[in-house]
Amino acid sequence: MEIYLDPGAFAEQLATDVRAGLTATPKALPPKYFYDAHGSDLFDRITRLPEYYPTRTERSILELHAGEIAAVTGAETLVELGSGTSEKTRLLLRALRDAGTLERFVPFDVDPAVLKDASSAVSDEFPSLDVEPVVGDFEKHLGELPRHPRRVLAFLGSTIGNLDPVQRHGFLTAVRGPLTEGDCFLLGTDLVKSIDRLVAAYDDAQGVTAAFNKNVLTVVNRDLGGDFDPAAFEHVAMWDDANEWIEMRLRSLRDQPVRIESLDLDVHFARGEEMRTEISAKFRPERVVEELAAAGLRLTQWWTDADGDFALSLSVPV
Ligand code: SAH
Ligand code: TRP
Repeated sequence: MEIYLDPGAFAEQLATDVRAGLTATPKALPPKYFYDAHGSDLFDRITRLPEYYPTRTERSILELHAGEIAAVTGAETLVELGSGTSEKTRLLLRALRDAGTLERFVPFDVDPAVLKDASSAVSDEFPSLDVEPVVGDFEKHLGELPRHPRRVLAFLGSTIGNLDPVQRHGFLTAVRGPLTEGDCFLLGTDLVKSIDRLVAAYDDAQGVTAAFNKNVLTVVNRDLGGDFDPAAFEHVAMWDDANEWIEMRLRSLRDQPVRIESLDLDVHFARGEEMRTEISAKFRPERVVEELAAAGLRLTQWWTDADGDFALSLSVPV
């Protein structure tokens, strides 16, 4: 396993980000810290919830079109950013293997635990595949990835929607940078749809998403000596119509002090105060085309499900 982000650097980044977020007005915590081993497990449960349509919809698109993606790209190397369990990715790996072009799979994730499990599961199914997992931050380390020819960079699950517009532009530019002719970028984007369905997907009846959201408090408690009481916060998911994103927050149920020992930081939460933890932007097709173009990527293919809920797109460097 290649490590671009070691535990020391991760802890340092966590400390900086948590200090900045908890001293800002309004308070916020950055989303990548949801994904410790427990958070990745909770996310895996989210992907199977009845309300959470994105995973199964994206899978259905891959089931129909993986063969075509394999034929169009002729990929030798598949790099998957924010790969998680790489479950849907196997559809792509199978199609590329069957097309006879696939040599190498590079799953890239911030969570070493999920990466290790996913890599060994993929190796079990594809014994002759070269699997080269990388622990890294896709907002920082894309330039360090090895440059094999005929590379496909895949970014599935609409994880791009968890970046704000400025971060997205930076991310897409960093994706574009090292791509040369013959390489391409496969992107999953969740599309704008009815508010009821969107909100339900991020506020499920079983409370798994609520537990996932609150897990970030547990991470801060464990890694930075915080004394957050997760039971004293409630999960909030709301649709922001102007920005066309779902915003997740944690609302303080009472007036309470919180101390973060390793940061020597004391903060206060008022009753009802809301701290932003995550956005999940939803896209219209024109916006995907525009944002890709702004980063020097030209859209060549667009696949969607019959209901137009989710889209996969392929783009190439211009
Ligand atoms: N691609 C999978 C998982 C999506 S969840 C799917 O489609 O179901 C988002 C994944 O991105 C998680 O596995 C999380 O650990 C990872 N991730 C989040 N922020 C990251 C970052 N800054 N750098 C690298 N990986 C990140
Ligand atoms: N990329 C996923 C999404 O935006 C991540 C996600 C799903 C998520 N459910 C969540 C992030 C709940 C935070 C909280 O759909």
